[in-house]
Amino acid sequence: MKVMNQDERIHVLNATSTLMSVIQDIASSGLQEEAFYVLDIGDIVQKYQTWNKMMPRVKPYYAVKCNDHITVLEVLASLGIGFDCASKNEINKVLDIGVDSSRVIFANPAKPASHIRHAATVGVDLMTVDNESELYKIKKLFPTAKIVLRIRCDSEVAQCQLGMKFGCDPTYEAPALLQLAHALGLDVVGVSFHVGSGCQDPPVFKRAICHAKGLFDLASKIGFKPYLLDLGGGYPGDKGTSIEKIANVVNRALAEYFPTDDVQVIAEPGRFFVASAFTLATAIHSKRGVRSEGNGPVIHNMYYINDGVYGSFNCLLYDHQHVTPVPLIPGHGKLVPSSIWGPTCDGLDQVVENVMLHEMDLGEWIVFENMGAYTLPVASPFNGFPIPKVHIVANQEIWVGLKNCLPLTEEHFVIGNTPDNLQLGLDIGGTDVNAWANPGMGLMVSPELSSCEEELLSVESMDSPPPYLCDYVEINPIN
Ligand SMILES: Cc1ncc(COP(=O)(O)O)c(C=O)c1O
Repeated sequence: MKVMNQDERIHVLNATSTLMSVIQDIASSGLQEEAFYVLDIGDIVQKYQTWNKMMPRVKPYYAVKCNDHITVLEVLASLGIGFDCASKNEINKVLDIGVDSSRVIFANPAKPASHIRHAATVGVDLMTVDNESELYKIKKLFPTAKIVLRIRCDSEVAQCQLGMKFGCDPTYEAPALLQLAHALGLDVVGVSFHVGSGCQDPPVFKRAICHAKGLFDLASKIGFKPYLLDLGGGYPGDKGTSIEKIANVVNRALAEYFPTDDVQVIAEPGRFFVASAFTLATAIHSKRGVRSEGNGPVIHNMYYINDGVYGSFNCLLYDHQHVTPVPLIPGHGKLVPSSIWGPTCDGLDQVVENVMLHEMDLGEWIVFENMGAYTLPVASPFNGFPIPKVHIVANQEIWVGLKNCLPLTEEHFVIGNTPDNLQLGLDIGGTDVNAWANPGMGLMVSPELSSCEEELLSVESMDSPPPYLCDYVEINPIN
């Protein structure tokens, strides 16, 4: 597959580089003013390996809604997993990278008619349903669809509950829906549930699987041949979390209720695959010291950074996340009570309410880990502040493992994080990024400067890697 956007190439790191050293390099380049992400492909691959080790019977269908960055989808597709799509556009995004329609579940129980028609046209026939009217809609628009009945079974503790919106009651609504589906001549092939996103109640998976077993038995009695059990999402994905407890419950429940391999088991993990793979770096562009009464000493620092709740930190509002600020350069001296604010003019745009930080200056960077889930797809450029770009890295082992796994190809990778190719995607803030490009990379160069740059580069390139194009870059653009 052709790489259309240079920013979406994966930088293969040399052996001495780390994620943090890449962030340092970019932050100190003088070419980066805006907030940016670093996406570590190795983290996603590691999650895939963990999943297979912990729940070998359960095939993941990644929930695209969680983070639909094209490289995330390509990497997951190259690993051979399936996709949970909620809309026509998500379906298209996945099919466009070459995923076969048989690897997609349309897992939105309330689908607009045109989206169902589209699914029928492109051959995505597996879809979830939790109500009567959806059954009638599917009867009319896509009568050969394979229906998965979504039941409700809520985690007692979850970051985001979903049961108030989706999932029929497994004891009285689901049996009636099975009867109706049969009367309409529809094909019910299985049962799904979503216990809630960020589930902290592993035993709920046993309760849900037990309900599913009862409905499999009933469906078989009615005349269906159910073969698909869908465990939904809910698995944690931050650094330091583990799916072990959930996996133990799931594996035991599968062995008890679905002991044979004739039932296929899938799940729809979202945050598990992407949360820890994305690290966000933000810069302090403004600062206010709040003094005690009568012009006394500063008692609280307010830092204004270049991403906020209308951008990546929408996850504070919509996903009930907690974020931890980590200064890129560890500070020293006394800790001062501080708050961190986004760039917009809205008073609601607060990222961290109260945190003890060493004194920091304008132009310093604050890093936030675990920013991959439910951040980028929801972010808006409100007030004209751009959504952070994503800089993608992988180590050499990952590159060797993935470069020939379609849809990934050699073309997706660029070797080494030299200043030369680090320039891809750097962002001085509001200007045309192409203006910063190196002619050696085949990108546009501003005409009035091109001849002297070429000279400079040809001299420099004889014994050292070409420098940044410093002659028209503010080295310290922020202060
Ligand atoms: C139908 C469905 N499947 C999967 C997911 C992904 O959930 P999670 O990110 O908790 O794994 C969601 C999240 O809202 C969802 O609605």
